[in-house]
Amino acid sequence: MSDVNGTKAEKKTLADIYSHLPDSPSEKTLEQVDYDARHWSSPVKGPLKPGTVEHKKAMADMFRDTFNPYKPSVIPWPELDPETMQRITSLPIWDIAVQTEGKARLRMAAYADMIDDPDVRDAIARNAWEENRHKEVLSRMVEHYGIPLAPEPPYIEPRDTEWAYLVTGFSECWDSFFAFGLFALAEKAGLFPMELIETFEPVMQEECRHILLFANWLAYHRATMPLWRRPWFELRVVGVLFFLLYERLSLVRTFDDKGVEHTQDNNFTVTGAQSMTDKEVDFVELMELCLRENDRRFAGYDSRLLRPQMAPFAAKLALKGVKLWRQFRDRNNGAQNLAA
Ligand SMILES: [Fe+2]
Ligand SMILES: [Fe+2]
Repeated sequence: MSDVNGTKAEKKTLADIYSHLPDSPSEKTLEQVDYDARHWSSPVKGPLKPGTVEHKKAMADMFRDTFNPYKPSVIPWPELDPETMQRITSLPIWDIAVQTEGKARLRMAAYADMIDDPDVRDAIARNAWEENRHKEVLSRMVEHYGIPLAPEPPYIEPRDTEWAYLVTGFSECWDSFFAFGLFALAEKAGLFPMELIETFEPVMQEECRHILLFANWLAYHRATMPLWRRPWFELRVVGVLFFLLYERLSLVRTFDDKGVEHTQDNNFTVTGAQSMTDKEVDFVELMELCLRENDRRFAGYDSRLLRPQMAPFAAKLALKGVKLWRQFRDRNNGAQNLAA
């Protein structure tokens, strides 16, 4: 286990994976690129059963054909008024966001590196490349606006590559679901300039593709692994989910180069709604928005490809719970008012 910037050939291979695309992107107009990134269907007729070659090909083709070749180096960052600047700078996420992308690119590259199947390997390698591009977009933005960041820790190559890939994949599924809602909330509230929202829109849709890939990889992986490995794998999945729960319940403390402590929120996508708008955020409305946005972002992709289930399921369950509680509370208040 060592720093990815180390000198061994094997470390260079991982940086190589996330720094180079598996192939060169095709030339398309911007409108076509944007449309293609959001719509994809397999020409194959009939069901796409996980574990079959058809399903695997569809998963890999979807990921390649929906690729958006935008370049972080040409993004024009809008001028911000002091109030917006302050709002953006004070979001407790920048260290975590940059470091999460740094970790994700490495973990995905490491996982891609151990896969023999060229289709799956290409898809996950491309995902690693896209995470590296997210990191570049964020780093450029942070630099442009002078947002102070804690020094980045060295990115350590994962020891347990499958575990690390599962942690990253499930985190993305969870965080993206809430981020879709938060993003729509920010867009509606108009507290952030439209140019900035438009800059991050392809990044949001890219996360949708990432979790679509992960959900289908997971089903493919389950279907193709030997049966005797399944119980151990499922135990690891449960372990990953507990780890994520623990991680999201804790705040992260980092120190900048002046030694000043910053507290960052690992769970900002769930707790950060109030930073996106100046109106009171209602839990039920927010969860319904997340569910609608989740459906909208996935709507253009072949319905035979599997969608991530965990976060929408948790949101629907929480919605039911809160609605029941509110009914109970209102009935109780009504009865008390009658008695008074
Ligand atoms: Fe990312
Ligand atoms: Fe991602």
